[in-house]
Amino acid sequence: MVARKSACYVAIEGGTDRIAGFYTLSAAGIPLAGLPEGLRHRLQEDSILSAARIGRLAVDIAFQGRKLGSALLIDAAAKALAAGTEPHALIATARTAEAKAFYGQHGFERLRFEPGCLAIPVSTLAILLGAEVPSYMATAARAA
Ligand SMILES: CC(C)(COP(=O)(O)OP(=O)(O)OC[C@H]1O[C@@H](n2cnc3c(N)ncnc32)[C@H](O)[C@@H]1OP(=O)(O)O)[C@@H](O)C(=O)NCCC(=O)NCCS
Repeated sequence: MVARKSACYVAIEGGTDRIAGFYTLSAAGIPLAGLPEGLRHRLQEDSILSAARIGRLAVDIAFQGRKLGSALLIDAAAKALAAGTEPHALIATARTAEAKAFYGQHGFERLRFEPGCLAIPVSTLAILLGAEVPSYMATAARAA
């Protein structure tokens, strides 16, 4: 997988300026063969697929269990959709069982080619966020 420039986004508690959580986001490319069936069958035979990657996402222990992790994930999804790089999926690396459970809870599916790597199609994210499915995804769906 090819990872490109990464940006770090931080959630800060109002009043204290304490860091409550953060995530990193970068553009990435994933081999078509590694995608979950649900995404793969709708695409043409490109060898590398554009994606957005969450490298790390974490919530300070004092702020856990208050939906901040979900909020950071939604923010990352919105940024991925707005990035202009036409990502087909949001992918994340889960190094622990906890992280796998967290992403699984949010609809991510395991990618076969890289252990610990999970993905969710951008079209699913758009629906979850109440946003329009990007036109390049609609085109891919029509081509299938
Ligand atoms: C995983 C982590 C980001 C969750 O953050 P959080 O703010 O406590 O999570 P939220 O309160 O937003 O939880 C949202 C949902 O995810 C679920 N969830 C959270 N942690 C979970 C876990 N360890 N296992 C399964 N589900 C989990 C919650 O039950 C909740 O589901 P619900 O909406 O049905 O109630 C946080 O525990 C953390 O930073 N852990 C250490 C770092 C890490 O593992 N990062 C992830 C990969 S890099």
